[in-house]
Amino acid sequence: MKKSIVLFVFAAFTFLTLMNACKNENPTASTDDLAEMTEEEEDIDEQYLYADNLYKENCASCHEKTVTKFIQREWLHGNSWNEVNRSIRYAHTFMEKVDFVKTLPDSAFNKLTDYILVRLEQETIESFATDMDYSGTIQSDNFAFTLDTIVKGLEIPWGIDFLPSGDILVTDRNGNFYRQKEGEEKVLIKGTPKVHYEGQGGLLDVKVHPDFATNQTIYISYSKPNNKKEANTAVMMAKLVNDELTDKKIIMDAKPYTTLKYHFGSRLEFDKEGHLYVTIGDRANRDENPQDLSKYPGKIHRFNADGSIPTDNPFIDSTGAIPSIWSYGHRNPQGLVFDKATGTMWESEHAPRGGDEINIIRKGANYGWNEISYGINYNGTVFTNTTHKDGMEQPEFYYMPSTGTCGLAMVTGEKYPAWTGDLLAGSLRFKYISRLKMEGQKVVGEERLLENIGRLRDVKMGDDGYIYFTVENPGLVFRIMPVQDAI
Ligand code: HEC
Repeated sequence: MKKSIVLFVFAAFTFLTLMNACKNENPTASTDDLAEMTEEEEDIDEQYLYADNLYKENCASCHEKTVTKFIQREWLHGNSWNEVNRSIRYAHTFMEKVDFVKTLPDSAFNKLTDYILVRLEQETIESFATDMDYSGTIQSDNFAFTLDTIVKGLEIPWGIDFLPSGDILVTDRNGNFYRQKEGEEKVLIKGTPKVHYEGQGGLLDVKVHPDFATNQTIYISYSKPNNKKEANTAVMMAKLVNDELTDKKIIMDAKPYTTLKYHFGSRLEFDKEGHLYVTIGDRANRDENPQDLSKYPGKIHRFNADGSIPTDNPFIDSTGAIPSIWSYGHRNPQGLVFDKATGTMWESEHAPRGGDEINIIRKGANYGWNEISYGINYNGTVFTNTTHKDGMEQPEFYYMPSTGTCGLAMVTGEKYPAWTGDLLAGSLRFKYISRLKMEGQKVVGEERLLENIGRLRDVKMGDDGYIYFTVENPGLVFRIMPVQDAI
């Protein structure tokens, strides 16, 4: 009796922690849906207890007594939902002592899979440092550094970019836009557009034109409201003169507008030929948007710097297709960076529970959402068992469990020799920087930097060769300073 109460409390705690952690990326977590969530919650508790018993009776004899130990293994057959499910069903069929494969009902395999993966998420959350102190020298695997605080007094610094003067431009999702000269008071930029500061929307990314010194041009992305309480993802180009935006022109007004407040995208990045790329999420309408080329959401778009459409875009001659589309089948891409040496475009995007992706973006390619995915729904049910399909791209890497990936940089230059060529991906959910160790274009390992520092929104290489990143509430911009002789 006592045991089952403990289990029940634990299951409820697991669920609530997960729901809480996912809240900001979870379309079902709006207040309208609270009643529905409570029902799901009860359902999950029951499923959890059922699966916990199944595990004890059928699995613990060979694997570890508790599932916690079991999931710490080096996975032989992978730990995506499909792979774990397949292992439970088929990895054991040749073993003499195993009769659960024949006796368990089909649904039990799915429930055991959910159970193992929910525990895997919980394990990840618990494994993070809580007693961190980042005021002194911080030792990573192979490199020592300190943190400088560059911008303070923000709420949710969503995007940063750098002016030729070395000043930093920083957007706050609440609509405020600042210029920061190091060591001075930050300056509020005037003339910014009205933004829809709701859900995941607001003032989002900023990008400085590569020739800013001669044309004073910048770009901002934001959730643009209409008069029906709906919003979309829009991109404005403007001149930044005397801390004011002038000569404003909207170059993308991504229809359809919707009242849904999720999955706006919307990173801005230039390639070396001077094309501007814009990411847009599926706007929480996964069934209609990402695979439909006549709709903006769920795509990466490509423009000329003046907002016109390049004539070599892949769908420019396809009837009904939006001509700015460069790639499609995306869920919520919030990280974008070019490898300056090779020109490769790297992107990161949120998946549902499990399966946040790191992709290489190719012209005209389909990234599969929502037909293929490594994730499961937030309530633990599966929405697709398919992870591969012909004509759809596979991620280069995916996170299991999901980290809520946001912001992406590639380490270049001389300042961080131990990290050169690695990708840095922010984690909103687990509040750290994921350093993806690279060998060429292969991800060969991960180091978690700065665990629990705060919800990571953006990470970027500055023109000065230093790494900058932003965290939320309190909203701060940090710079990573190498400690040359501390190793
Ligand atoms: C008779 C012992 C035995 C029992 C009972 C058993 N397993 Fe296994 N399990 C193994 C062995 C051995 C392997 C490794 C098989 C291989 O090398 O492919 C394995 C592999 C797995 C894997 C793949 C792990 C990986 O590294 O990719 C999963 C998942 C798994 N088992 C889950 C379960 C679950 C859930 C149950 C209970 C329903 C269960 N097993 C019951 C012996 C057992």
